[in-house]
Parts: sequence; structure tokens; C-alpha cells
Amino acid sequence: MNQNPHPNNIVWHHATVTRKRREQLNGHRGGVVWFTGLSGAGKSTIAHSVEERLHQMGCRTFVFDGDNVRHGLCSDLGFSPADRHENLRRIGEMGKLFAEAGIIALTAFISPFHSDREMVRNMVASDDFLEIYCRCPLEVCEARDVKGLYRRARAGEIKEFTGVSAPYEEPDNASLVIDTNLIDIEESTRIVLALIAERGIIPV
Ligand code: ADX
Repeated sequence: MNQNPHPNNIVWHHATVTRKRREQLNGHRGGVVWFTGLSGAGKSTIAHSVEERLHQMGCRTFVFDGDNVRHGLCSDLGFSPADRHENLRRIGEMGKLFAEAGIIALTAFISPFHSDREMVRNMVASDDFLEIYCRCPLEVCEARDVKGLYRRARAGEIKEFTGVSAPYEEPDNASLVIDTNLIDIEESTRIVLALIAERGIIPV
């Protein structure tokens, strides 16, 4: 894709309502909490559970979920490495805008490649970005098969399915690893919230 077709004709407009002022109004910082892991590992479940708690605490939040975003913003994209890259680039940019708006964006995408996670990490200021690896053995995700997609992938009906016919590269520098086959949703939520507080995104 064209990087920036109009580099000289576009001038950044500075807002008077700054990020700092938005964050003061909200009573917490903006940020991006990026969940990665296999389909069925529990990314969306934990992201929504964390969001529920943050909302109850009075925080401004939004969850970006792979399955939902692919119905709209990214409905033109498939699952080739190039399309996944573009999917995650768009979500990275959205997350960055939401952080700028003083909102805590929680994202639940498989994001299977190191390079794409690195791209997103580099888009967002390091203070604003938490990477959470929802680790779960493929056999467990496959046994859960909440959406019936693993069965269809095994039957050859879905191509390039992560874990079956497309790779998942495990993170080696995640802010947090949650073994979702061992830790329940309550505890997972608690440790994510603790990390968000520890990083100064919400008051302790
Ligand atoms: S990502 O690789 O680009 O990060 P994303 O999280 O948006 O993927 O979408 C993953 C979801 O799409 C899965 O949870 C699953 O429900 C669905 N899906 C459909 N086809 C595939 C596929 N080939 N590989 C992985 N997930 C797929």
C-alpha cells in the first residue's frame, strides 16, 4: 500500500483540547491493551471482562475485537499475511487515536506475527502499550472450538487458519502472559487490571 501519497500537501493541525486535558477530564490515562493469542484462547472474553471492570470504575474504554472489526472497518481483508498485516496496521492506528482521545483501547486480535506486533508496538508510545499473551495449547482451543472454525479448518474448508494451516509466532517480550487453560477469567481480569494500574494508566 502507498505509504503517504501526499507527503507535502498535508499539514498536521494541532488541537487546543490536548490529550493531557482529555485525560484530566477522564481521571485516567489513555492506552492500548493488546491481547494476542490463538482463536479460542480467551482474548475477547478477558478484554470484555477487563472493560466491564474499568467501566464500573468510571473509565472510558473501547474493545476492538477481530471478529467484529472484520465486519466493518476491515471487511475488505482476508487472512493472508499481507491482509493480516493491514488489519493490524489499521487497528494499531485506531488504538493510537483512542489513546490520544484519552480512552483505554483493548484489542483482541490473533496478531500471529512478531513483525506485526512489533509494528503496532512502535506506532504507540511505549508507556501507552501493554501486550498480553493469552497462552493456551492448540489442543485446548481446538477442543473448545466455540465457533466451529477449527473443525472446518481441519476439514479443509477454511484456508490459512491460524494453528492449523497458518503459523502463530509466540511473543517473547509480552508485558504479561496468561495461561488461559490454567487461570480462570476472574483471576485473569484481576492481573490485567493490576498491570494497567502498575503502568499508571489508571490510578492505583
Ligand atoms: S488476525 O490474524 O488478523 O489478527 P483476527 O483476530 O482479525 O486475525 O481474526 C481472527 C478471527 O477470525 C478468529 O477468531 C476466527 O473467528 C476468524 N477466522 C476466520 N478465518 C480465519 C483464519 N483463516 N485464521 C484465523 N482466524 C480466522
